[in-house]
Amino acid sequence: MAAEVQKPAYEIIDHSYDVVVVGAGGAGLRATFGMAEKGLKTACISKVFPTRSHTVAAQGGVSASLGNMGEDDWRWHMYDTVKGSDWLGDQDAIEYMCREAVPAIIELEHYGLPFSRTEEGKIYQRAFGGMTTHYGKGRAYRTCAAADRTGHAMLHTLYQQAVKHQAEFFVEYIALDLIMEDGACRGVICWNLDDGTIHRFRAHQTVLATGGYGRAYFSCTSAHTCTGDGNAMVTRAGLPLQDMEFVQFHPTGIYGAGCLITEGVRGEGGYLTNSEGERFMERYAPSAKDLASRDVVSRSMTIEIREGRGVGPNQDHIHLHLEHLDPSVIHERLPGIAETAKIFADVDVTKEAIPVLPTVHYNMGGVPTNHRCEVVNPTADDPDAVVPGLMAIGEAACVSVHGANRLGSNSLLDLVVFGRAAAIRARELVEPGRNHKELPKDSADAALARFDRVRHNGQEVRTADLRLEMQRTMQNNCAVFRTGEVLEEGKAKLTESWGKLTGLGVDDKSMIWNSDLVETLELDNLMYQAVATMHSAVNRQESRGAHAREDYPDRDDGEWMKHSVIWVDEKGDSNIGYRPVHLNPLSNEIQSIPPQKRVY
Ligand code: FUM
Repeated sequence: MAAEVQKPAYEIIDHSYDVVVVGAGGAGLRATFGMAEKGLKTACISKVFPTRSHTVAAQGGVSASLGNMGEDDWRWHMYDTVKGSDWLGDQDAIEYMCREAVPAIIELEHYGLPFSRTEEGKIYQRAFGGMTTHYGKGRAYRTCAAADRTGHAMLHTLYQQAVKHQAEFFVEYIALDLIMEDGACRGVICWNLDDGTIHRFRAHQTVLATGGYGRAYFSCTSAHTCTGDGNAMVTRAGLPLQDMEFVQFHPTGIYGAGCLITEGVRGEGGYLTNSEGERFMERYAPSAKDLASRDVVSRSMTIEIREGRGVGPNQDHIHLHLEHLDPSVIHERLPGIAETAKIFADVDVTKEAIPVLPTVHYNMGGVPTNHRCEVVNPTADDPDAVVPGLMAIGEAACVSVHGANRLGSNSLLDLVVFGRAAAIRARELVEPGRNHKELPKDSADAALARFDRVRHNGQEVRTADLRLEMQRTMQNNCAVFRTGEVLEEGKAKLTESWGKLTGLGVDDKSMIWNSDLVETLELDNLMYQAVATMHSAVNRQESRGAHAREDYPDRDDGEWMKHSVIWVDEKGDSNIGYRPVHLNPLSNEIQSIPPQKRVY
C-alpha cells in the first residue's frame, strides 16, 4: 500500500503559462526568448540571476563549420562528433546539430554577440580537440570565439533578447519538483527565496534547462549551482536518466583549484609536458597531439602521473605551456585565463607553465530526449516513447549528440541549437493562450512533503559532511580510469551515504533566503545522480569514450553499442535498461558513419 503523503500547510501562489523554462543558462535563455518571440506566454525560472548561470564560465568557443579560417563542411563536423562520441551518439541528432550550427551562429552574430574578428572582419575561429577537415585528414578551425569569454558574451546576448521579447523571469526561485499526471508533465512547483512563498506553475510544456551535476565530484570546473536539479526532478517523477556513466574530465583544470583553463590555449599553440620536459602527447596521439579529444588527453596525463612522470614536489600534476606564445596572442585571445592562472596558481603565463590536472567538466548523460527536445521514457514497445508536456535541453539533456565523449565547443553549440529547436517544437505543440485543464487536487503534495521533510528533519548529519563524503567517493571511485572492484566499492559507499539522508537536517527553518535548506535540497538532488552514475558505470563492462574500464579495456560494439537508461528510486536502488543508438542520419545528404577503431 502506498504510504500516505502528509500535507504540510503551505500557501500556494498559482501561475499559468503556455510554456515554462526551468534554468536560464545558454539553453534556457535561447529557448525562453525563442518561445516568447513565437507568441507563447513564457516564464523562465532560475535559481540565480540569468547572467550568473554557469554558461558564463564557458571559455574557448562554439563550434560551427563557417569556414572563415579555412575550408569546412557540416558533414566533417558531423563525422568528428560521431567519432568523438565513440559511436554512442545518435546520428540523427548529430546531423541536426551540425547542420543547424551555421544558421544558429549567424543568428547569434545578428543578435549582437561580440565575437572576436579576423582581419577581414569575419567571426574568428580557432582549432579545438577532435575537430578535423576531410573526415579526419586535416585540422579544422571551427570554434567561434569571443576571446576566451565566449559563454559570458553568449549569455548576455541571449538575456538581452529574452528581455526584448518580454519573457517573464522568476529569479532566485528554486524548482522543487515536477507536477505529473497520468504520465504527462503539467508544470512545476517552486520556492521563491526572496519572500519564502511557494509557487505552482502550470504549463503545456515544461522545459528543463537545469545544467549538469559536476558538483557530485570533489574537483570540478562547474559552478556550485551545478547540482542537476532537473535530472533529480525527472528521477523522482519515475522517469529514467541516460548514459550517466559518461563523465568528462577536462584535461586542464588548475591543479588544486579545479578552475578551467580553456582548450583554446592548446588551440592557440599551447602544449603539455611531463617532469622530463617531454611533450608526451606526441607518443599517445601522434597526429592530433595536444589537440586529441579530451578523453584521450585526460587518460594520457593520468598515465604519465601514475608512471612517475608528473611534475611538482609530489609528481602529481602536469605543465601547460603558453610562455612561448606571442604576448599579443595571450592579450587578445586568452586574457581571461591569464587572469585566472595568476589568481588561482600565482602564475604569469607569459613566463611560466600552468600546473594542471584533469578535472570533472561535463556530463554526457542526462534526461533522454529525441532531437526535437521531447523527453523520452522507453517502454518495452517503444524505446522512443515521448513524455507529453516535458522537454529537456542543454547539459541536463542526453539528446544524445555527445554519446560517450563530448568534443570541446560542441556544448555551447548544443545549447543554442537545441534551445532554438525547443522553441520551434513548443510552438508546433502549443497554440498560444490555449486553456489549461484543472490540475489534480494533490498536484503539489509530494513536492511539499519532500520540502517539509528536509526542512524539519533531525540534525544528526550535517549537509557539508555528507556532501564531502559523496564527492570524495565519486572522485576516488568513479574517476578517469575505473575497475569493477573500485566501482563496486564506490557503490557500497554511496549506499551507506544514502542511508544517512534520513538524518540530514538544517538548523535554519526559515523560508526566506535559507541557503542551508537550498544546499540540503541540492545535496539530495546530487545523491540521485551520484547513484545513477556509479551504478551505470558498474554495469557497463567495456571501455568507450570517457568510460575507461581497466578490466574491460576494449570497446565492445557487439554487446554495448546501446544507451544505458537508469531509474533510481527513493531508497537509492536502481533499475537499468537500454535504448538503441540511432545509427541513421536524418537526411540522405550523408551516409551513416559506421563504427571504426579510433586513431589519433
Ligand atoms: O576548454 C574550453 O574552453 C571548454 C569548452 C567546452 O567545454 O566546450
